[in-house]
Amino acid sequence: MTNDERAPVELNVDVAHPARMYDYYLGGKDNYEADRRAAEASLEVAPEIRAIARENRAFLERAVRHLVRSGVRQFLDIGAGLPTQRNVHETAQEIAPDTRVVYVDNDPIVLVHARALLSAYGLGRTAVVQADVREPEAIVADEQVNALIDFEQPLAVMLVSVLQFVPDREPHEIVATLRDAMPQGGYLVLSHPTQDFRGDQANQVASTYNRAKAPAVARRKAEIERIFEGFELLEPGIVQTPLWRPEGEVTSDLDLIWMYGAVGRKL
Ligand SMILES: C[S@@+](CC[C@H](N)C(=O)[O-])C[C@H]1O[C@@H](n2cnc3c(N)ncnc32)[C@H](O)[C@@H]1O
Repeated sequence: MTNDERAPVELNVDVAHPARMYDYYLGGKDNYEADRRAAEASLEVAPEIRAIARENRAFLERAVRHLVRSGVRQFLDIGAGLPTQRNVHETAQEIAPDTRVVYVDNDPIVLVHARALLSAYGLGRTAVVQADVREPEAIVADEQVNALIDFEQPLAVMLVSVLQFVPDREPHEIVATLRDAMPQGGYLVLSHPTQDFRGDQANQVASTYNRAKAPAVARRKAEIERIFEGFELLEPGIVQTPLWRPEGEVTSDLDLIWMYGAVGRKL
């Protein structure tokens, strides 16, 4: 794993990748033909995906602002995605410039784009690491992660809209490893698609990801609750993303938002 500016990055743009499909839903330009084809197949069965993606980003921003205001100055954002308009470090450093953020993603294209971001923002407070959420031990032990994140101090681990891409593993086991590395009072920010609302659409979208060779799964609330073992949930608990501490009127049609969001505090 490297963040070296000179290291070549291998991209396979012939296969769709969730980071670039998500970028397409959000109206970004960092996607290729294979990503757009797969994303269009999802949008065909569930046009609400764009609204779900927007609400997911809004949830992430509200959660980051809340945690920075609560004193958190370190964020480990796993499954961070391509840089978008309001990235975690921008939201956080706007309130507290000394906040340190490490982005982790397994898509090499995220690394490429993040290098540009890093040269714009400077090293020191923000870093990008290419790693897989299926290997939480490696993330916790990673040299670059440890250069910025002090696991003894208050921190937030973010798993926002990423664990659905680990359909073949128990997500609570992955999170347990991260939880054990966190200090008491550390936070977990999580969002996850669910089949509890519009289950047919959620499952059909998962099938389009499976066909695009990016296997995904929508989970039920009980499975999400299990992920928060060892954490106390902040109010209002596990809710559809627009309902997590909204800052204004909720304008999205809640019947269409099959995505949960929640924040927990390690006991
Ligand atoms: C839907 S995007 C979410 C991006 C961002 N967290 C957000 O919520 O706006 C999912 C991200 O997870 C990344 N991802 C998928 N599988 C992963 C894995 N096994 N390990 C690390 N990252 C992964 C994808 O590359 C993509 O950037």
